[in-house]
Amino acid sequence: MSWPRLISIVFLAAVLAGCAAPDTADDAAPVAEPAAASFLPEMNVPADNPITDEKIELGKQLFFDTRISDSGTFSCETCHLPEMGWGDGLALSTNAAGNVNTRHSPTLYNVGYYTEFYWDGRMPTLEDQVLAAWRGQVGATPDAVAETIGAIPGYAEQFESAMGTAVTADAIVDALSTFVRSLEADNSPWDQYELGDANAVSADAIAGFDVFSLEDKANCTLCHLPPLYTDTLYHNIGVGFDSDDPDMGRGAFLANQDPAPDDAATFNGAFKTPTMRNVTLHPPYFHDGGAATLDEAVDYVLSGGHFNPWLDERLMPREITDEERAQLIAFLEALTSDTGDFVRPTLPPDAE
Ligand code: HEC
Ligand code: HEC
Repeated sequence: MSWPRLISIVFLAAVLAGCAAPDTADDAAPVAEPAAASFLPEMNVPADNPITDEKIELGKQLFFDTRISDSGTFSCETCHLPEMGWGDGLALSTNAAGNVNTRHSPTLYNVGYYTEFYWDGRMPTLEDQVLAAWRGQVGATPDAVAETIGAIPGYAEQFESAMGTAVTADAIVDALSTFVRSLEADNSPWDQYELGDANAVSADAIAGFDVFSLEDKANCTLCHLPPLYTDTLYHNIGVGFDSDDPDMGRGAFLANQDPAPDDAATFNGAFKTPTMRNVTLHPPYFHDGGAATLDEAVDYVLSGGHFNPWLDERLMPREITDEERAQLIAFLEALTSDTGDFVRPTLPPDAE
């Protein structure tokens, strides 16, 4: 049994206990806590960059503003679009320098819950990662861009009021990171079901959770662990190992460390387990964008992946029926939150 299911049962038991026992001060029966609004754990927020609503708003504007690039034509949105689940719908994107990226633009949903960033986890903080993306993907000379942004009165005022600072490269990175942290996938129909709303999901989705989590079914929870539906670890599931020159992922990153850890090679071909929350919203899939649809991605993992010397033994071929496969997909659909219609921010005009 996976733990959200367990929580539901404990929660239900507490509610029932509350009903059965008179609720007097002397009675030791625990009173049910009010239903938690969220199953998500606490987010890792650096002490020197706390989240505030005003900073999120500022970061949102910068995220969509091409004036943060040297060319004036790139922004974060170029590869992370709200309508594409904060990916870009492409297998591989092209960066500001005109080079095709070797890895697929990932979703930004729940990125704030990771402790290492990028497909291979090579970045230790979100702020470092955002700085790298700003320089390399968007194509920015941070100090020069900070000067440009600082000359826009609407921005200068907002940095002062939201962050108490003039516009600097660091402050831009902090605001962008804060906006990224606000992109949460939470309170999906499946969460509502777990919290006791029996009608929040279909019977197929309920059966699909069993297919997803049971040991003798697909057992996806070995790696896609609730509540984030990722263990935030790295596994080789064989993606790309049908080519002559596969991306060694985490293994290549570790091998280049000085000193390299002894077990670096065991991470060859390993990539960060992506979240299954809102997974329906951002095809294509995998670090190389090689699976065009969710069906294709699911069939690939069910097949046990391309064989290679480092293939994670937990990714076994899974024999499930067509009905169970459809239920599994229904469960993944139930993990999709209502994201509403995203409204792009109004950007401050250039100085006269
Ligand atoms: C040209 C396309 C492109 C642009 C522009 C771009 N990104 Fe990305 N982004 C990517 C790709 C590709 C990756 C994955 C790279 C890797 O893992 O090696 C990525 C990864 C990320 C991640 C890591 C997610 C994770 O799961 O670890 C974050 C966060 C992110 N980008 C935020 C941003 C922000 C903020 C901006 C603007 C400053 C931006 N990106 C601009 C393509 C882009
Ligand atoms: C051994 C750990 C492991 C198991 C078991 C596992 N996965 Fe994954 N899954 C991963 C990793 C790691 C990736 C990313 C691999 C890559 O891109 O190279 C991934 C990627 C995916 C993706 C693509 C997501 C995206 O954002 O690109 C889907 C969909 C998926 N898995 C579904 C499942 C399902 C359904 C099951 C059960 C049948 C399952 N996985 C079992 C580790 C695992």
